Amino acid sequence: MKLFALLTLICFLILSCSTIMSPDINTTKVELGEMIFFDTTLSQNRNQSCASCHDPSTGWTGPTTHFNAAGASYEGSVKNRFSNRKPPTAAYASFNPVLHVIPQADNLVVGGNFWDGRATGEKLGTPVADQAQGPFLNPLEHALPNSACIVHRVCTGVYAEQFKQHWPDSCNISWPETIEAFCTNDIEVFTVDADIQAQINKAYDEIALTIADFESSNKLNSFTSKYDYYLSGKVKLTAQELQGLELFNNKGMCAACHPSTSSDSDVPPLFTDFTFDNLGFPRNPENPFYTQHQFNSEGMQWIDYGLGTFLASRPEWKHLAEENLGKHKVPTLRNVDKRPDPEFTKAFGHNGYFKSLKEIVHFYNTRDSLERCKNGSTGEKENCWPAPEVSVNINTSELGDLKLTEAEEDAIVAFMKTLSDGYEVKEN
Ligand code: HEC
Ligand code: HEC
Repeated sequence: MKLFALLTLICFLILSCSTIMSPDINTTKVELGEMIFFDTTLSQNRNQSCASCHDPSTGWTGPTTHFNAAGASYEGSVKNRFSNRKPPTAAYASFNPVLHVIPQADNLVVGGNFWDGRATGEKLGTPVADQAQGPFLNPLEHALPNSACIVHRVCTGVYAEQFKQHWPDSCNISWPETIEAFCTNDIEVFTVDADIQAQINKAYDEIALTIADFESSNKLNSFTSKYDYYLSGKVKLTAQELQGLELFNNKGMCAACHPSTSSDSDVPPLFTDFTFDNLGFPRNPENPFYTQHQFNSEGMQWIDYGLGTFLASRPEWKHLAEENLGKHKVPTLRNVDKRPDPEFTKAFGHNGYFKSLKEIVHFYNTRDSLERCKNGSTGEKENCWPAPEVSVNINTSELGDLKLTEAEEDAIVAFMKTLSDGYEVKEN
């Protein structure tokens, strides 16, 4: 009996020790994805995370007011390297379907992530998961040389234990000693056997799926805007906001591409129909990518053809490239006005040419009724508009000369401001 009691005590001690020693098993996959999303060590100089360009304070887009006020693209982990487009919001991006073409609707292209849809979702099942594998290896963003570096840093980082709990086999990898020297660019070559490479690829997929879980959670998709509470009858919109909603749906034709209602009773309106269009937005001459000679051999002549360029890269869709040149994805308008303070500048459109909601609404309203700006002419964005970045495939049926009054433009802006998450309902 004594021996039994002793054994019981030992067992108890071992068990309780192992509970104390074992890492926090309460970390959900969503929380794990959040840690990866905010982890700056997963970049060349350990200085950049996904949140550096997708911060909650701005509705999960770029949080740096002086970038937004100028070129609107963001500097990567390596100093002075800027990418070519404005970061769209990562919120609600998980609702984008896998990219597909609808032959019955004139080969309409629908879905995918990125302005040009190239994160299609074909590989890992959803566009957000496919997308999440891009930034880490993009030399203009996190700039790591190989997926092995991300896997190694996740498997040896502060939340490694939590990662192993969710993906038990993922980190059983025999790393060559040179791995970190390679990841910090001290040596150029990295070779592993094919079976180790296969393990690395699998773990890299799992990292992306974990980020996608976070991006699909209510942390990014909270549906807590004033408009949501208006739809559920908890608050009233002001007279101006209501007028804006009415104009948004009818005279302004905004809802034709950014639907304010939903056909799915389980999902509130997302303000995008997931299609692509060329609206004739002017180029943003301040985009630093134009002078990024190492990555942009065309310099100032570079033109962003959006979806068309992506389709041209795929044999099965190549024949659709021409009719889609210049088209970019219809972005959600949720959180479009969300900013940390009223002085903070946000940029709008794929190249961030527009710096206020008023400017962009004025463009929809007057693109075709105002003059083309002449060299050196004043009044750009008010009395004249520059040439479109891409002059083919421009949508002329749903915008360009809406005949909205100034007060009507303001009402549409006021309505868009009701789409910011985190609205506080005041109880009476
Ligand atoms: C240096 C800035 C930068 C960093 C860092 C960055 N992104 Fe982005 N993100 C962008 C830009 C720019 C785009 C649009 C690129 C394009 O369309 O070609 C984008 C697009 C996206 C989209 C697509 C949204 C949509 O509706 O199509 C998602 C989702 C996203 N990023 C998530 C992430 C995640 C996850 C990470 C970290 C692994 C990350 N981003 C890191 C700048 C950044
Ligand atoms: C024909 C489809 C279409 C219509 C109609 C339309 N939009 Fe858009 N909207 C788009 C597309 C496509 C983009 C991105 C274009 C680009 O960047 O080149 C966009 C971009 C925007 C943006 C920038 C969002 C961001 O995150 O950068 C805002 C704001 C916006 N639209 C508001 C409106 C309003 C307000 C109306 C009505 C007055 C409207 N849209 C009508 C398709 C449309």
